Amino acid sequence: MESSPAKAESPPESRHKDVGEILFTAEQIRARVDELGKQISLEYAGKRPVLVGVLKGVLPFLADLMRQITLDAEIGLMAVHRPHGYGHPDVKITRDVQLEIEGRHVIVVEDIVDMGQTLNKILEHLRGKKPASLEVCTLLDKPARRVVEVPVKYVGFQVPDKFVIGYGLDYRERFRNLPYIGTMKSEPEL
Ligand code: IMP
Ligand code: MG
Repeated sequence: MESSPAKAESPPESRHKDVGEILFTAEQIRARVDELGKQISLEYAGKRPVLVGVLKGVLPFLADLMRQITLDAEIGLMAVHRPHGYGHPDVKITRDVQLEIEGRHVIVVEDIVDMGQTLNKILEHLRGKKPASLEVCTLLDKPARRVVEVPVKYVGFQVPDKFVIGYGLDYRERFRNLPYIGTMKSEPEL
């Protein structure tokens, strides 16, 4: 029987066409996530940390980071909604962590800390549950636009004051599945 020609073909690649500049390649991200996993594993040695990811942007980072943490760890997921859109201070929690975190060592895992409002809301909420410790690990930090001071212990990369996409980060739900982090070819309408 003849083999299907589709098997030999490369799949189509339409996801890169609106990308401007690549800021961090998949290889650079992998190397940095490996370092963060190692650092967290050393600093939490003897503990069983709870990693709390914030949906949906954190998905690739959390999936990669958790596998570089060599300790016995637990995973929780939260979600937030911004009813008035990007940049508005109103942040609502739509999914709670659904794990008992009182007395536990909690690490909030985020894709990006920009103005700080999302993280501030999450930290206030989690603090109320009386964890033994509460730290933050973000893949990206964009300090230029910070309006709320938030304590961020672990940072993958600092980014300039540009809208970034890829490796979980979206523009109107697109680009989350890019394996790298970049900017958009045309100015996003925020
Ligand atoms: P903050 O409350 O302003 O810190 O906003 C953090 C959230 O806004 C992140 O979790 C992202 O969902 C989103 N965000 C902020 N900056 C960017 C960006 O450059 N690209 C994509 N999403 C972003
Ligand atoms: Mg996010």
